Amino acid sequence: MPHDHAAGQVLLVGAGPGPADLMTVRAMRAVQGAQALLYDALVGAEILDLAPANCIRIQTGKRAARASMAQDTINRLMLRLARRGLKVVRLKGGDPSIFGRVGEESALLKSHGVPVEIVPGVTTACAAAAQFDFPLTHRGLARRVVFATATLTAGKLVADWDGAADPETTLAIYMGGAAARQIRARLIAAGRSPSTPVAVIENVGRSQARAVTGSLDSLPILAATSGGGPVMIVVGEVTALAPGALLQAPRDVVQALRA
Ligand SMILES: C[S@@+](CC[C@H](N)C(=O)[O-])C[C@H]1O[C@@H](n2cnc3c(N)ncnc32)[C@H](O)[C@@H]1O
Repeated sequence: MPHDHAAGQVLLVGAGPGPADLMTVRAMRAVQGAQALLYDALVGAEILDLAPANCIRIQTGKRAARASMAQDTINRLMLRLARRGLKVVRLKGGDPSIFGRVGEESALLKSHGVPVEIVPGVTTACAAAAQFDFPLTHRGLARRVVFATATLTAGKLVADWDGAADPETTLAIYMGGAAARQIRARLIAAGRSPSTPVAVIENVGRSQARAVTGSLDSLPILAATSGGGPVMIVVGEVTALAPGALLQAPRDVVQALRA
């Protein structure tokens, strides 16, 4: 379908994990030049404040277990705003191409003739590794990284992680906080050792970020220490290189894990 307002466009932008200084310069410029901003719930105030005062701001939600705007509604909003000739910025946490529906949104917009640009961002797994000082790959320990999601459907894990049993694979699991028990069972059944080091990292990029480390066997206990913020689970030998992460767990959990 032809695009009827030449000036309108949509930028699908990765905001990174939280702090404004972890955005790319291109992402920052996009927000500073936005005329309409559609943003996910995980995007913080520091970044939203970069938008011009007269910019239209619409929160689209998208936190697990909380009300979020239906994808259809988001699509219609993006189209409507772009057709008004506006520079629309669709701002997502992390990188828009990692569990960010960027493919669907881009295809939809293009099918309506709306010009689309994708601006990458720092994905949570990379930010978590940097913040807690461990690598995602490491010679002799991890030669592959898998970005996986672990959402539950009717209490069951919808996941088939190729290579999950390989001890040299690092698994970065998004949206897995509520599925720790199922992840543990699935990985051990797939052949991953129960003693495999894991990290549960909450609120990556924020001042209240916290990482607890332990074994795959203890994953449900580690995940239960979460305070309700977004959680990244990393499974693999590399997480044992995170200095002092365990010390950041609550005292009772540290004691339970040391017992
Ligand atoms: C829909 S996915 C979006 C991922 C995002 N596009 C990225 O690249 O990081 C949302 C999930 O990412 C993870 N996540 C996002 N931000 C996080 C943060 N600040 N701390 C920990 N996990 C986070 C959580 O697992 C959350 O459930």
